[in-house]
Amino acid sequence: MTTLRLRPEDPADTGAIRRVLAAAFARPDVTTPPEVRLVDELRGSDAWLPELAMVAEYGGEIAGYALLSRVTVGSDAGSAPALALGPVAVAPHRQRIGLGVSTVQAALEAATELGERLVVVLGDPAYYRRFGFSRADRMGLTSPWSGLGEPWQALVLPPSTSGEPPVPRGEVFFPPPWSKV
Ligand SMILES: CC(C)(COP(=O)(O)OP(=O)(O)OC[C@H]1O[C@@H](n2cnc3c(N)ncnc32)[C@H](O)[C@@H]1OP(=O)(O)O)[C@@H](O)C(=O)NCCC(=O)NCCS
Repeated sequence: MTTLRLRPEDPADTGAIRRVLAAAFARPDVTTPPEVRLVDELRGSDAWLPELAMVAEYGGEIAGYALLSRVTVGSDAGSAPALALGPVAVAPHRQRIGLGVSTVQAALEAATELGERLVVVLGDPAYYRRFGFSRADRMGLTSPWSGLGEPWQALVLPPSTSGEPPVPRGEVFFPPPWSKV
């Protein structure tokens, strides 16, 4: 039986993660997909949360990746931290066997354990609704992508302890690396 191990990335994984991202997001018109640079730039930024960069090691090789990183939600009441999910990628030869779902779930569980309350994502609702994501605009969350409607989604994580801060509402600010995608 092939072994699946879900764990945060470590420094030795960087090259393998780049290869998974490059293969999963490959397009004929680009040599390096922007998702590769996005992860490299987030990794060197304040938005990086090492426990929430999740890899799927399948049969001893890095085959899947799901990243949660810091974003800020601002409103008249002040600003509050939240998370953005993405990129999510699985090596093409390992797709459709559940690695994407397992890796995202592992990242969301790790975020819940850290006391995080809100995750936003821009992506296909057909994929993300299985994790509980739904339309973010209907939850009072805006962003440069809110006009897209359904693909702009959010998920409220369950409180892991009592006394956690309320779930933020307002404009979601993405740090500069996101402007490249
Ligand atoms: C999207 C992606 C991460 C899914 O990973 P995966 O390991 O192949 O998916 P899983 O096997 O865990 O998912 C299984 C389910 O997701 C569905 N699914 C897979 N890719 C999908 C997609 N692009 N859109 C919608 N649903 C998708 C499958 O049909 C399956 O549904 P079912 O459980 O109802 O049968 C992977 O296909 C990938 O890397 N794609 C290219 C990069 C990309 O588009 N990333 C997401 C955007 S951020």
